[in-house]
Amino acid sequence: MKIKNICCIGAGYVGGPTMAVIAQKCPEINVTVVDINEKRIAAWNDKDVENIPIYEPGLSEVVAEARDRNLFFSTDVDAAIDKADLIFISVNTPTKTYGMGKGMAADLKFIELCARQIARVAKDDKIIVEKSTLPVRTAEALKNILENTGNGVNFQILSNPEFLAEGTAVKDLMKPDRVLIGGDINSEEGKEAVQALVDIYNHWVPKENILTTNVWSSELSKLTANAFLAQRVSSINAMSELCEKTGADVNEVAKAVGMDSRIGAKFLKSSVGFGGSCFQKDILNLVYIAKSFGLNEVADYWEQVIIMNDHQKKRFAANIVKTLFNTVSGKKISFLGWAFKKDTNDTRESAAIYVADYLLNEQADIVIYDPKVTKEQIYADLNYLGTRSEKENRSRVTVLNDPYKVCEDAHAIAVLTEWDEFEHLDWKKIYDNMLKPAFLFDGRRLLKKEEKKEIGFEFYAIGN
Ligand code: NAD
Ligand code: UDX
Repeated sequence: MKIKNICCIGAGYVGGPTMAVIAQKCPEINVTVVDINEKRIAAWNDKDVENIPIYEPGLSEVVAEARDRNLFFSTDVDAAIDKADLIFISVNTPTKTYGMGKGMAADLKFIELCARQIARVAKDDKIIVEKSTLPVRTAEALKNILENTGNGVNFQILSNPEFLAEGTAVKDLMKPDRVLIGGDINSEEGKEAVQALVDIYNHWVPKENILTTNVWSSELSKLTANAFLAQRVSSINAMSELCEKTGADVNEVAKAVGMDSRIGAKFLKSSVGFGGSCFQKDILNLVYIAKSFGLNEVADYWEQVIIMNDHQKKRFAANIVKTLFNTVSGKKISFLGWAFKKDTNDTRESAAIYVADYLLNEQADIVIYDPKVTKEQIYADLNYLGTRSEKENRSRVTVLNDPYKVCEDAHAIAVLTEWDEFEHLDWKKIYDNMLKPAFLFDGRRLLKKEEKKEIGFEFYAIGN
């Protein structure tokens, strides 16, 4: 089966970059990315490709090459479904905020809406691909909805979780460690559908890096991968606290440990805590699934990764208060960085949000600079917590686009995101314009300690 038309429902951080790369690599396939968010689609279609809604190094170039050739962005979801041979579902699957499983389970209402819409619109056989991260056995529910509400056409359901990381999305998509495709490998139709998707990726991904499994293994592998990755960060962060008490340095420990080829060097960077839209959500979901099977020890084991992460964010903030003579009330604290990691404008679950919230509860005044995050996004992140009124957030938090202005007259600076440019700031100038003692808290192990101490800073870094 040759795929000619692809539709992707969801033009977000996954749908947008993933489809842009598929379109670039498969010029003979038409790829239409649809979304109900009109503003987002308008931004993807903006004449100036630098205004696309997602900042990712290298993405605007890929979009510029494929857009309006065989890559299209649209709000006409029905039309794109109707035309497609293969439909990726790449909508958001956030943690539930209501009802059963509140605060733990994945909210699948957007997925279900997609399934019902596909069932209503589809007039010929289609392959449906789960691109969103989903609880294991979601494909069963999808199949049920599609077959019971559809027009009698045939649907093959595949699981094809996405492993890209934000900030390196284009690189990860161009050269993935592996592509995982789960399908019904016991039926001819299932095998054909899997092969159709393999053929798309095989335009640029070598066959040996394309892994096919049954659907349930594929769905569960995605949750497992994120749990393992987050667990490494929590493990090294746990050690960072012990390092601070004992005189060991977490970077040296991470290096020594990571050189063991059984452990490996990646994902051992101690930080103020992991953020992003995936790790916490997916682990909570895993914990919920384990509990729903009565596997309480399994659930507790993974939940500890989140508990450790919350602790890390809180203790970073608490250390600022303690160091500033036990009060930050009315003091100016400057934040360098708000995004959950460098090279992205995404702020979902960013540690900076929680550190700010803690310090605002202590009546600090916070001034923020991030090279890619907008002022309105920062206020929206704080308002979403609902800790205080929007008015109060606006009066205590200032967002500026000049890092030097942000640090002027500050009592303390906190580095919350590891943007490269922060390393290259004129730190002497920053020091000269700060209140003394000039406190500097590095939540990312980005800055050189000796250099900063020599300038005169009172310097604190995670795990040192
Ligand atoms: P996102 O919120 O950036 O994008 C999702 C988009 O889907 C939104 O623009 C929303 O308007 C749209 N949408 C929702 N319901 C719709 C509907 N019925 N019809 C049309 N559009 C609809 O989310 P994201 O970060 O791209 O994540 C999508 C999925 O991929 C999630 O399941 C996530 O867990 C998973 N994932 C994310 C990442 C990542 O780095 N962000 C990586 C791997 C996997
Ligand atoms: C993650 C997974 O890496 C990716 O495979 C999956 O598809 C989506 O979730 P993402 O959240 O975009 O990707 O970024 P990632 O690089 O994993 O970083 C997540 C968080 O962990 C960030 O806040 C980052 O700063 C933090 N982190 C990461 C550390 O604190 N230390 C590390 O060593 C690595």
